[in-house]
Amino acid sequence: MNSQYLPQNQDVATRFAKLKDRPVVLDVRNLTKGFSSGGNQHTALDRISFQVFRREFMCVLGPSGCGKSTLIRIIAGLDTPTSGEILLDGNQVQGPGSDRGMVFQSYTLFPWLTVKKNVMFGLRMSGQSLSVAESEALEWIDLVGLKKFKNSYPHQLSGGMKQRVAIARALANRPRILLMDEPFGALDAQSRAQMQAYLLDIWKNVDVTILFITHDLDEAVYLSDRILVLGTNPSRVSELIENPVPRPRNRAQFTSATFRATHHHLEELIHPPCAEVQERFPIPRMTTIGDDVE
Ligand SMILES: Nc1ncnc2c1ncn2[C@@H]1O[C@H](COP(=O)(O)OP(=O)(O)O)[C@@H](O)[C@H]1O
Ligand SMILES: [Mg+2]
Repeated sequence: MNSQYLPQNQDVATRFAKLKDRPVVLDVRNLTKGFSSGGNQHTALDRISFQVFRREFMCVLGPSGCGKSTLIRIIAGLDTPTSGEILLDGNQVQGPGSDRGMVFQSYTLFPWLTVKKNVMFGLRMSGQSLSVAESEALEWIDLVGLKKFKNSYPHQLSGGMKQRVAIARALANRPRILLMDEPFGALDAQSRAQMQAYLLDIWKNVDVTILFITHDLDEAVYLSDRILVLGTNPSRVSELIENPVPRPRNRAQFTSATFRATHHHLEELIHPPCAEVQERFPIPRMTTIGDDVE
């Protein structure tokens, strides 16, 4: 059920009814994660539950430190929950597996391998012959538009290109779900915008479900079908929003009333007006009278 503050219409209702008719790929049930450091117990995630449907593009949004990376690391099998469980296609997740592809914010390509060998790596690890791994890697490199750079090394690529290789590498293993943790967070604004549009194109053409973490509100509204909003201290699901902005998406929609209303609603969830005041701290006056600015 969507928030009463978001635009509602029949198209939106039909779109999400269809989405929920699809099989559940990822089922997160009552996930709790506690950390203990220096004798103190800290609950990073508190009974998080949600489902992601086949071919859905779900964004997870929340302020820094609310547990987004912890959540995705547990789904990836890189960390274990304190309690709760995760099912992928109905099977319990118990460690990393090729059914989940990961793309992180930091560049994680092997610097000593070429683009082609980076993409071949997972295929070889999963037992593909050299010739099959090579031809499949080249297909994925072509899909992300980097054919000309197949023999380049990561240091010869821009940040956006590196992330395109990371996406190709993750998709080459044909994961059921692509887990992305702020993948464009280190890019400049222009490359970031390009990569967002690019990711939507890839998602349209490849049979994959995406769970995408971000703290950027516009990015979440531009990319997602639904947005899981996490709160802090401890992190719980504050809302699961059905994004009313129609597809296909384009950047002209950023100024549409529906886009702005959705952004505004997220803004209020993540930065309630009182929080803004609390975050401010007193700054002593260090200018002379007469040079005031507003
Ligand atoms: N290995 C760890 N040990 C102790 N505390 C951790 C560990 N990993 C994360 N945390 C804490 O859990 C909280 C959530 O962290 P994180 O998942 O990285 O947040 P986000 O990705 O939303 O910024 C933070 O308070 C962080 O300090
Ligand atoms: Mg993080």
